[in-house]
Amino acid sequence: MKIQWFPGHMYKAGKEIKETLPDIDLLIEILDARLPFSSANPLLSELRGDKPCIKILNKSDLADPVRTQQWQEFLEQEDGVKTLALTAVHTDKVDTVIDLCRKLIPHKATASKVIHVLIMGIPNVGKSTLINALAGRTIAKTGNEPAVTKHQQRIDLRNGIILCDTPGMLWPNLENHNTGYRLATTGAIKDTALKHDDVASFAGEFFLQHYPDAIKQRYQLETLPATDYELLQLIGKKRGCLRSGGHIDMDKVAKILLSEIRDGTLGRITLETPDMMQTELAELAIIRAQKAEKKGKRKKNWKSER
Ligand code: G4P
Repeated sequence: MKIQWFPGHMYKAGKEIKETLPDIDLLIEILDARLPFSSANPLLSELRGDKPCIKILNKSDLADPVRTQQWQEFLEQEDGVKTLALTAVHTDKVDTVIDLCRKLIPHKATASKVIHVLIMGIPNVGKSTLINALAGRTIAKTGNEPAVTKHQQRIDLRNGIILCDTPGMLWPNLENHNTGYRLATTGAIKDTALKHDDVASFAGEFFLQHYPDAIKQRYQLETLPATDYELLQLIGKKRGCLRSGGHIDMDKVAKILLSEIRDGTLGRITLETPDMMQTELAELAIIRAQKAEKKGKRKKNWKSER
């Protein structure tokens, strides 16, 4: 499956970040705690130079707490990066974000000096929710359809912090196809851009491997099947998702499974770990090298034929 969902404004926003950076003291990147790698901007380390960065693992209420801790330790290995695990819909902890901003920019630690913060995150990660919580008033529109904010805007939090809000961007870095599937599993990629049953198969396989007990409990299965296909069939039977002729309606099953993953009914889950990502990146590097070698050979042959 190839997921294609890169509205033009996302490309533009990448350019805008570069242009805005000289006026910025600090960056905040909001990550989905369930996929801290796949929801990250792969160019950020390069873009930010030596500017400090806070990586917020949002929706931590839906994520596996053990894995969140692993990710925080991993991400903080990068120079200048601090992390916070947050649940933006619960506003009681959002002040920790302001405190950390002031701590990271000590020469502007009092509210009389303005700290300029660039805030970014993929669509649906909870950026508007967080901005509204930080501001204590409704500024940014929230909603369940990704890609709500389309233009960069400045928001004065009236506490010595000005946020520069960038449009929610899904970075065109889906070379690792698992990244696309993970984004789709949590709903970051628009539902119209994907086939439910493909994504549910990916999710089913992942759960069988990583969270088998959650699946067993939720769908009251005595034993677990060997494949994602059998799992979807079993869930379909349990939930009465039948078409004429007694066949399982796989699209309906897929929608049920995905919706129960997304809203946390299946428990707190994280779809990737630092170790998994390092393995996948190593595999990707091999594929890239093989592709480059093939391309080189083709070029050589083409030249010798001329
Ligand atoms: P965005 O600006 O990054 O695109 O995302 P937005 O704030 O609109 O949030 C997308 C959805 O995620 C919203 O739900 C929001 O309530 C939910 N959300 C944000 N932060 C958290 C969090 O920490 N935990 C959980 N569980 N959910 C979070 P919605 O149902 O799509 O919209 P709404 O009806 O709540 O406005």
